[in-house]
Amino acid sequence: MPDRSTESGPVVLGLESSCDDTAAAVWDGSKIRANLIAGQAVHQQYGGVVPELASRDHEKHIVPLLEATLAASGINPAMLDAVAFTRGPGLLGSLLVGASFAKALAWGWGLPLVGVHHMKAHVLAHFIEAPFPLFPFLCLTVSGGHTQIVRVDSPLVMTVLGRTLDDAAGEAFDKCGKLLGLDYPAGPLVDRLASQGDPDRFAFARPDMPGLDYSFSGLKTSVLYFLRDQTRLHPDFVSANLADLCAGIQASIVSILLHKFAIAAEQSGLEHLALAGGVSANRGLRQGLQALAAQRGWSVYLPDPAYCTDNAAMIARAGAFLFQAGQRDTHELSVEARLAW
Ligand code: KG4
Ligand code: ZN
Repeated sequence: MPDRSTESGPVVLGLESSCDDTAAAVWDGSKIRANLIAGQAVHQQYGGVVPELASRDHEKHIVPLLEATLAASGINPAMLDAVAFTRGPGLLGSLLVGASFAKALAWGWGLPLVGVHHMKAHVLAHFIEAPFPLFPFLCLTVSGGHTQIVRVDSPLVMTVLGRTLDDAAGEAFDKCGKLLGLDYPAGPLVDRLASQGDPDRFAFARPDMPGLDYSFSGLKTSVLYFLRDQTRLHPDFVSANLADLCAGIQASIVSILLHKFAIAAEQSGLEHLALAGGVSANRGLRQGLQALAAQRGWSVYLPDPAYCTDNAAMIARAGAFLFQAGQRDTHELSVEARLAW
């Protein structure tokens, strides 16, 4: 079948279902036409994502979401070049819903299928809206499941230089927030409360791993023990100091993240630095990197907050890069909970 690409690039439908957000978007070859997300409030009461419930909600949301996305985009299936979907990493049941749906659409519409790596798509979200980072650049990719320092040589050539050995940065925000009694996901709430608090009042552990790897479990434990000791003496300690506690926790996470990212920049000699993933929406992290960059003369690229947390615009954009590079997947392509880079 001939490609129906516009002059600027292929027209791609993107579907994302790796965790608890069902998302669909259309890339029209040069911009995003529609980018819709159906979230899942059901997990709040459990303090984390319940995989079985997530799969069931994806199944409920995906058909109306596709209809709404196509209607909002003004693109009909005959105008599409490909259907891109998240192949992994993520929750297996959630991935299967998106993948099966994408395969059915591609088959029914007679379109090529393109499987996308979720974390690479977070990086490629930088190419949705200008200013685009200049290659090669370093990307600190920080989400609920991953924390990686990635060298990006081109849209298709990425190398992980460092990674977390235990919790991801988003997990550290969520677990520390949970210790403070905040609902899941606590990251955005910690961010908001931290802006009203004193980051220097409470100091928490800042574990330092060898090389460019990270660890966040020591921070979580230090918050746990500190709160246990303080609430024994003052039962209302958390509520009386919530903003300062959030500011202290955020300052520790940001400091751990930026310390290694700065070392990676020095070692690699790269001066174009980017953030990606849900935690890249964090204001403390964004401001911290900008301040460091001003001292060191780096160029910094921060995605629009709408493209930081999970979305399908990044899947459609990444799918367009892969389609242009010739990737065509078959219906036998499997999803992978731990998809390698
Ligand atoms: O990329 P993402 O939406 O999903 C994954 O791929 O995991 O990232 C979700 C993570 C959650 O841990 C959430 O708490 C965190 O990103 N997050 C934030 C903020 N917004 C989302 N963490 C800190 N500050 C924020 N503003
Ligand atoms: Zn993500």
